[in-house]
Amino acid sequence: MISENTIGQAIEDLFRQIEFQAEPAGLYDPLRYMVSIGGKRLRPRLCLTAYGFYKDTLGPEILQPAAGLEVFHTFTLIHDDIMDRSPLRRGHETVWKKWNQDTAILSGDVMFIDACHRMAQCPKNELPAVLDLFFTTARQVMDGQQLDMDFEQVPMVPMQDYMKMVGLKTAVLLACSAKTGALIAGAPAAHCQALYDYAYDLGLAFQVADDYLDAYGDEKVFGKPIGGDIVQNKKSWLIIKAYELAPDSMKAALYMPAETPGQQAGKIAAVKAVYDAAGIPELARTQIAALHESALGKIRELAPEAREVLEAFARKLVGRTL
Ligand code: IPE
Ligand code: IPE
Ligand code: MG
Ligand code: MG
Ligand code: MG
Repeated sequence: MISENTIGQAIEDLFRQIEFQAEPAGLYDPLRYMVSIGGKRLRPRLCLTAYGFYKDTLGPEILQPAAGLEVFHTFTLIHDDIMDRSPLRRGHETVWKKWNQDTAILSGDVMFIDACHRMAQCPKNELPAVLDLFFTTARQVMDGQQLDMDFEQVPMVPMQDYMKMVGLKTAVLLACSAKTGALIAGAPAAHCQALYDYAYDLGLAFQVADDYLDAYGDEKVFGKPIGGDIVQNKKSWLIIKAYELAPDSMKAALYMPAETPGQQAGKIAAVKAVYDAAGIPELARTQIAALHESALGKIRELAPEAREVLEAFARKLVGRTL
C-alpha cells in the first residue's frame, strides 16, 4: 500500500517536472499554461490511489498513464471552455480568451495526442486493456459533451437524460482513472470493476456538485464564473429539478433572454430565486449525498484499508457542497 502523502508528493513532482516540446511556442505555451494554473488533479490521484492498493512503489509505468489522464482531462477543459464560452478556468483566463479560439482548438488537439502517448507507456502486458478502456472513455466523453450542447437547444430534458449525459461527460473519466490504476497494478478483475463503479457514482455526485457550485459557489474558490450554466441555457441538475417542481407561474424566469450583461445578471438572479423558492439547493445536497452513498456501496469487497482511503477521498470530493 502506498500512502496518500507519497501519492500527493508524486503528483506534485510529476506536474512540476512535466515537459512539452518547446517549439512552436504558439502550440505548446497553452499546454504549459494550463498545467501551471493547477487544478485539483483528481484523475491522477484516483489512478495512483487505486494502483497503490496493490503495489508499494511508483514508477514511470504508472506515473506516465496517470499524467496522461490529467492531460486528457485538461484537453477537454480547453475545448469545453470554447463550447461554453467561459472566460475563466482555475481562477485564470481560459486559453481561448488569453490567446484565441484557433489556438485553443489546436493546442487541445495536441494535448489529446500527448495524453495518448503517455497512456501507451503503461506495461506491455496491460497495454491492450488500458488503451481499450482509455479510447472507449475518450469517445464517451465526447458523446457526453455533444449531448450537453444538444440539450442547450431544447426547452427541457428528463432527469434520466441528464444522468446519462453527465455519466458520459464526467463520470466515465473518473471511473477510467481508478480502473486504469488497478489494471496496471494487476488487481483482480472484480476489484477493477468495483473501483470503476465507485468512481463512476462519485463522478455523478461530483457533476451535480459542480452544477450546484456553478450557481451557488464562490467564484474565488470555484475558479469559474458563477451563473455560467444559467446564462448558457445549460440543462443542469438544478434547472431540471426546478422545472419538475416549481409552479408554472414561476417557470418564465427559466427562459428569460440573456444576451446583454444586464440581462445575464438579471436572469441569474431570477433563476436562482426560483431555485430558492423550490428548495432546489437542499434537494441537490440530498442527491449528492445519495450518489456519494451509492459510490461507497460499490467498494464493499475491497480491503478495509483501501475502503478507508476511498471513503476519505469521496468525503473530500463532494464534501465541499454538503
Ligand atoms: C471540471 O473538472 C470539469 C468537470 C468535470 C466538472 P475539475 O473540477 O476536476 O477541474 P480541475 O482539473 O480541478 O480544474
Ligand atoms: C465539463 O462539464 C465536462 C468536461 C469538460 C468533459 P462543465 O462544462 O460543467 O465543466 P466546467 O464547469 O466548465 O468545469
Ligand atoms: Mg461544458
Ligand atoms: Mg464548462
Ligand atoms: Mg460546470
